[in-house]
Amino acid sequence: MLRLVPREGKQGSQEKDVGMPQGMPQPVKPMLQTKNVIKKYRLGSQVVPVLNGITLEMLPGEVVAILGTSGCGKTTFLNIAAGLERPTGGEIFIHGHALNKISEKEMAAFRRRYIGFVFQLYNLIPSLTALENAVLPLIFEGVPAQIREKRGRELLQAMGLGDRLRHKPNELSGGQRQRISLARAMINNPRLIFADEPTGNLDSKTTGEILQLLLASVRERGQTLLLVTHDPEVAAYADRIVEMVDGRLLFPQAAAENNYL
Ligand SMILES: Nc1ncnc2c1ncn2[C@@H]1O[C@H](COP(=O)(O)OP(=O)(O)OP(=O)(O)O)[C@@H](O)[C@H]1O
Ligand SMILES: [Mg+2]
Repeated sequence: MLRLVPREGKQGSQEKDVGMPQGMPQPVKPMLQTKNVIKKYRLGSQVVPVLNGITLEMLPGEVVAILGTSGCGKTTFLNIAAGLERPTGGEIFIHGHALNKISEKEMAAFRRRYIGFVFQLYNLIPSLTALENAVLPLIFEGVPAQIREKRGRELLQAMGLGDRLRHKPNELSGGQRQRISLARAMINNPRLIFADEPTGNLDSKTTGEILQLLLASVRERGQTLLLVTHDPEVAAYADRIVEMVDGRLLFPQAAAENNYL
């Protein structure tokens, strides 16, 4: 099994704060910080607490897995950390940007610039080809068609799908679909990637292949990856595993170090 050693991400070292005296040790800005994130859903008169104070810090280049049983709040947390959903309480910072200060309108652009998201059920558009699905984020960015095609083709080729560019999702296997969804998450070269059970529907051989591909891409680009899973074997690919039980993290090391608690 692939077991990789944590290292500092390229982006963290590239983006030094301006005005820092030369020769001084530079503090590394966390790529993701969540502080006491709370989520409650209201169902009629009933309040359902789902996240009960999640504090997590990830450094640039880190790969962290949140491991927890079904229903413990993994998807809810990932959606909130990625700005897809708003928390009931608490704060989220992505490379120092406070998500609660970003308007709904700005959020989509912010996500395109900073975040890649890999969904458990691929979320591919059935009427589009593999190539068109993979380059979708570039369309929203206004990247010209020729450049989109070139980048999409190169990325899909690197993911072993060079001969499947014109296939529609229903003409592809589960593993191939998830490769396209990885390509779509990577195409903008985001700094931070979220993966929600990225191999939840795949057999164990394909699971290994997809995770190795994801990890290799993330390491090569110095990206930060947060993945959530119920499967300890999937979590073992990460540098650090944090357990989630009933909407809480069991080992909030970052929280203790930073006096958030
Ligand atoms: N929109 C909603 N309204 C009410 N309750 C919700 C809503 N979305 C999620 N929940 C509840 O929040 C809890 C956590 O759901 P979530 O999808 O985050 O779990 P999960 O850990 O991702 O589970 P799984 O491993 O099965 O994907 C569940 O008990 C679920 O019923
Ligand atoms: Mg889930």
